[in-house]
Amino acid sequence: MSVSAEPLDTPRMREFLSKVTGPYNQDFVRLSPSSCVMPARYMDIAQRVIDFEVRPDDVWIVTYPKCGTTWSQEMIWLVMNNFDYDTAYKIPLHERTPFIEFSSILKPMADLGPHSIEACAKLKSPRFIKSHLPLQLLPKQLWTVKPKIIYVVRNVKDTIVSYYHHYNLWSDVSMSLDEFAQFFTEDLPMYNPFWTHVLDFWNIRNEPNVLFYSYEDMKADLASVIRRVGEFLGKPVPEEQMPKILDHLSVEKMRSNPHANLQEVAEYVRKQSGLPSATAAGKHFIRSGKVGGALNELSAAMRQKIDSWTVECLRGSDYSGPR
Ligand code: A3P
Repeated sequence: MSVSAEPLDTPRMREFLSKVTGPYNQDFVRLSPSSCVMPARYMDIAQRVIDFEVRPDDVWIVTYPKCGTTWSQEMIWLVMNNFDYDTAYKIPLHERTPFIEFSSILKPMADLGPHSIEACAKLKSPRFIKSHLPLQLLPKQLWTVKPKIIYVVRNVKDTIVSYYHHYNLWSDVSMSLDEFAQFFTEDLPMYNPFWTHVLDFWNIRNEPNVLFYSYEDMKADLASVIRRVGEFLGKPVPEEQMPKILDHLSVEKMRSNPHANLQEVAEYVRKQSGLPSATAAGKHFIRSGKVGGALNELSAAMRQKIDSWTVECLRGSDYSGPR
């Protein structure tokens, strides 16, 4: 299988990018298979990702951005590493569970140490690897070697709001949230389309090596998601560990823990791109961490538009998760 790319140089894409200053303003392409929007630079590694050597004891954490990736990475790493909080406080999460395509999406990352794909290849087993790529662009050995894959979904409106703030953290944007949401429904932000990303994993959710849960499941009952993850990974979680991990994974603790969130990496990227400090401007990687926050931020008309668009995107599927 090979990956091909069409330049995404349409008037609407140009309009979208004209409102973005920083590393998220670069040349984008639409990839085949998957129709995924990626920076043109991603083509440098697209085939290497497809051909990446998978190990049976890997754990792959796959999400569309903003669906609870970081929260899940920290949880999964701790469950699998005997709740080693000392190491978790010493080594940044992005080193413990590297993001395979990261160096080839944002330019400043290319200058920072080994390429993320090499960092993944060199990790000691068991490896914990994060990716936002859609199913069709992931290593083909995932489907033959069958390591554990954990997929996390989130309702689309909160995802859009969170992604808007994310764009405005890693770059600066000069568009309203409703405008961003409109571009989202036109599949122009990076990693879109959203619903096929979700549906491809929804359709394999019952495979024995796949665990599918939602951000909303985590918010409703984190302890039961931690138990499910422990059972799925063959590391049942002793109940006496629960109070400490629940506290460690609280949004307040994660926000104040520089080794469990990407604020410092975002600051590095902004500095390299000549942008002012995000923290000083009150922009944070871990924000409110709520379900339904989008209701207060998107206009009623845009919420309705997203609902109708979602119905269209989900037509013919049996998806019954959050939307
Ligand atoms: P919001 O922007 O809605 O607050 P990802 O890690 O996939 O990029 O997801 C980021 C989202 O998860 C952000 O959502 C962030 O605040 C939220 N998040 C991160 N850690 C969290 C935690 N411990 N509890 C609840 N939400 C958390």
